[in-house]
Amino acid sequence: MKILVTGGLGFIGSHTVVELQKEGYEVIIIDNLSNSESSVLEGITAITNQKPAFHQIDLRNKAAVDQFFDSHSDIAGIIHFAASKAVGESTKEPLFYYENNLFSLINILSAMKEHGLDKFIFSSSCTVYGQADSMPITEEAPVKKALSPYGNTKQIGEEIIADLSAVYPLQSILLRYFNPIGAHESGLIGESPLGVPYNLIPYITQTAIGKREYLSVYGDDYNTADGTCVRDYIHVIDLAKAHVCALKRLLKQQNTEQTEIFNIGNGKGYSVLELIQSFERVTGIKLNYKIEKRRLGDVDQAWADNTKSQQTLDWKPTQTLDDMLASAWKWEQKNK
Ligand code: WQD
Repeated sequence: MKILVTGGLGFIGSHTVVELQKEGYEVIIIDNLSNSESSVLEGITAITNQKPAFHQIDLRNKAAVDQFFDSHSDIAGIIHFAASKAVGESTKEPLFYYENNLFSLINILSAMKEHGLDKFIFSSSCTVYGQADSMPITEEAPVKKALSPYGNTKQIGEEIIADLSAVYPLQSILLRYFNPIGAHESGLIGESPLGVPYNLIPYITQTAIGKREYLSVYGDDYNTADGTCVRDYIHVIDLAKAHVCALKRLLKQQNTEQTEIFNIGNGKGYSVLELIQSFERVTGIKLNYKIEKRRLGDVDQAWADNTKSQQTLDWKPTQTLDDMLASAWKWEQKNK
């Protein structure tokens, strides 16, 4: 069975491609290489000995998307990752985020409708909850005004899917990720953002290896135990496996609603300072960091209630925080 993975050379996308190939799916990747490199394809192939087909396409280019689908109408399902995803960056580049994330989604959905394709998995985000009123966060928590353009693109994306589903039999699963971190145990693929990392873990590992002088901790005056933000960190492999479970659910037509929503997180929250302490313990490296002012768009705390995902998707996270940090550090050392 052919599965299209957009953004398949990205951090989560590449790890999901590996898990799909391990399950016997034939994977086709579309990526515009805006935040990844074609060398990721070699990493995937080295792990699975199966080189996925790769098309370098910018999904904002509707003609290119339509041309692709004209010659690929036998795709059984689509997993849509392709989007920009840094909360902090989106507050500085709102128009780019709206254009990139929404035009790409609209073009993919239009092509699916035109070609009668209906199995769709959307890379959504816990940022749609804004600062949730209570922890842990369930799927019933209200979608609140997003605190960043990135979060808003995910909210609008979910609304676009809902509105299309009212007039087209799209069968979709929205996976609301919490904080994906870590890397494949081989050290052959991992999180390798181009340029200065916006996310915490790559910034920590790049500081530890000497690429960055110090880590800026964005604020220690939040409403949390130690004043730094609390997040639910989930291993990227556990997250990738959740996509395979969701895809199987759609392909077997086990979904009970046209659009199903699942929180994909570990169910535990760790603060930035706790992350730093864990990293220092796991690696034996003293991390150079400074407390600085808050970053626009950050919420105080967010961690998942993953009960529904565990019960319905037949999925559960297996990696510990130490596993995640050790794998991220191994990746950084192999790719310095
Ligand atoms: C985590 C914490 C920062 C960098 C991510 C993804 C987003 C979504 C949700 C999937 C925050 C602090 C960070 C730094 C810091 N996931 N921090 N210094 O903002 O929670 O969003 O998860 O859709 O796509 O980006 O993750 O890693 O940027 O920040 O102190 O140099 O670390 O303030 O509290 P975030 P993050």
